[in-house]
Amino acid sequence: MRKVLKSGQQPLEIKPQEKSVWICMCGLSKNQPFCDGLHKKIVGEEDGKTYEYDAEGQRKEV
Ligand code: FES
Repeated sequence: MRKVLKSGQQPLEIKPQEKSVWICMCGLSKNQPFCDGLHKKIVGEEDGKTYEYDAEGQRKEV
């Protein structure tokens, strides 16, 4: 399990797009709410464990 710190308090409207819009579901994107590819960092996470990622994207188990 990832620990995600969110600061947004309101919903974000995504108006109809010509192309797909990818919303971050891993919590690591630096371009929230959009995916920026940082989800690649979560490869190798094990079920039942909790991880924390620092500002540089380095993972440590907590
Ligand atoms: S799903 Fe979170 S960065 Fe892609």
